[in-house]
Amino acid sequence: MQRTYYTVFALIISISFALADNLSANSWSSDDDTLPEVLPKKMRDKSDDEIQKAVFQAFENQLKVISEYTGHMLDPESPYGFFKDEMPITNARTSNPQSDLIFYNNAIRGFIAHNKNTITIKWVPNQVVTELGWKDMSVRGRYTFMNASYFDQGKYHIQLQDVKYLASTTLSENTESYPSTVPKSSISYKSVKVSFTGGLPEILKTSDSSNVKHFIEDIVFQQVADRVVRDTHNNITVAIRQVIKPYVIIKNDTDKNFPGTNGKLSSGNVGYSISNTVISGFANAEHKLKKVTTKMATNTVTADVRTTIHNLDGKFDFKLEESKPTVGKATFTVSRIDVNISFNMLKPVECKAEVVVNQPNVKYGTKLSADIEKNLSNAFFDNVKIQLSTDICKALGQIIKPGK
Ligand SMILES: *[C@@H]1O[C@H](CO)[C@@H](O)[C@H](O)[C@H]1NC(C)=O
Ligand SMILES: *[C@@H]1O[C@H](CO)[C@@H](O)[C@H](O)[C@H]1NC(C)=O
Ligand SMILES: *[C@@H]1O[C@H](CO)[C@@H](O)[C@H](O)[C@H]1NC(C)=O
Ligand SMILES: *[C@@H]1O[C@H](CO)[C@@H](O)[C@H](O)[C@H]1NC(C)=O
Ligand SMILES: *[C@@H]1O[C@H](CO)[C@@H](O)[C@H](O)[C@H]1NC(C)=O
Ligand SMILES: *[C@@H]1O[C@H](CO)[C@@H](O)[C@H](O)[C@H]1NC(C)=O
Repeated sequence: MQRTYYTVFALIISISFALADNLSANSWSSDDDTLPEVLPKKMRDKSDDEIQKAVFQAFENQLKVISEYTGHMLDPESPYGFFKDEMPITNARTSNPQSDLIFYNNAIRGFIAHNKNTITIKWVPNQVVTELGWKDMSVRGRYTFMNASYFDQGKYHIQLQDVKYLASTTLSENTESYPSTVPKSSISYKSVKVSFTGGLPEILKTSDSSNVKHFIEDIVFQQVADRVVRDTHNNITVAIRQVIKPYVIIKNDTDKNFPGTNGKLSSGNVGYSISNTVISGFANAEHKLKKVTTKMATNTVTADVRTTIHNLDGKFDFKLEESKPTVGKATFTVSRIDVNISFNMLKPVECKAEVVVNQPNVKYGTKLSADIEKNLSNAFFDNVKIQLSTDICKALGQIIKPGK
């Protein structure tokens, strides 16, 4: 099993570099062309400045989504959303200068039988594009027609062919910024046939009746668009979660498998070992992309990421190899860990990670000399720093596939 504690940092910052193998099978996918490390290749003919801006945006959007889901991966799966096949449409009185046409007891059917249903994640410009297609949909109800010389009542039937829904919602803040409405132009169709049981003639082009056109394209489509955006929300949330999941390695606030260490205390004659380390507080992490620096001439797109984790605590076991070995337990707190990472997205071996542990404090459950306490604490936190700083870059090197 991977040593999750420190790989999380690498994975958090490298979210962009290993997008899922094949999510399309599940009807959702990530648009890999919008990944930060792919953008420079896609934008070869653009200036360094333009590339830099696009990469920054894509990477920042990814970090936002990671931050939203970090620590929540063990929340219950959000359930899928499902369409009901039928939906009522409000009564509507349409009028033009010559006539009125009233539609009532209206219902549209055919939501379940979609022949296309895809969700595409675009890291830049921070969008989820949802597309649905239906071969047929039909609206039925009753109508009343009247003009200066004619009155007609009966049932109507609107048959729509090749109906499409295409709309974008935001990727980050998918829950809080999710729209309750999308433009009625999100719905389009190829052809229509409207028939009436009374005396009104059949209509094959909405341009032949402004009343029918208004009912279908303004009233029905707006209500359908709003219904679809509502019904697809859960699936979009599931899709975002699935796409981000590989990069949110720390699913829990607590890591119970932090690697131990051993060695000699500074005087060189007391051996020590540290094991059973547990660290809590990973949910208190903030990740910010500080800067992207691009020089395509030298194949360099360097990202600087700052990660801060507040209020950590935990415990470890230790053993001192003195003339009479000492075995004991300790608890600790850390007010903050700062991590600065700088790496070349196009060549991840060019990577540097700096870690600072702020205000560490250890309490030992066994009586030790002040000198040994101090040196053992230093050894413990040095291990934390070393694990983080070396393995962040190591993990980055494994995740980013240069030349992809
Ligand atoms: C991935 O999906 C594509 C398109 O659906 C398919 O052609 C391909 O075989 C899939 N690859 C794997 C490894 O499942
Ligand atoms: C949501 O996803 C499930 C599972 O793929 C699918 O059966 C269902 O039709 C989808 N619902 C909507 C509203 O797209
Ligand atoms: C009233 O509507 C009917 C049916 O569309 C049409 O034949 C007739 O010409 C219309 N009359 C007037 C005065 O517009
Ligand atoms: C998260 O914590 C729960 C409860 O402590 C534990 O059962 C689970 O294995 C942990 N998961 C991970 C990935 O560490
Ligand atoms: C603790 O470290 C100090 C300074 O590095 C060193 O002089 C001292 O011998 C060390 N004590 C032990 C017990 O290793
Ligand atoms: C991280 O970078 C900032 C800004 O350059 C600097 O002030 C800070 O000391 C650095 N921290 C670490 C842990 O290197």
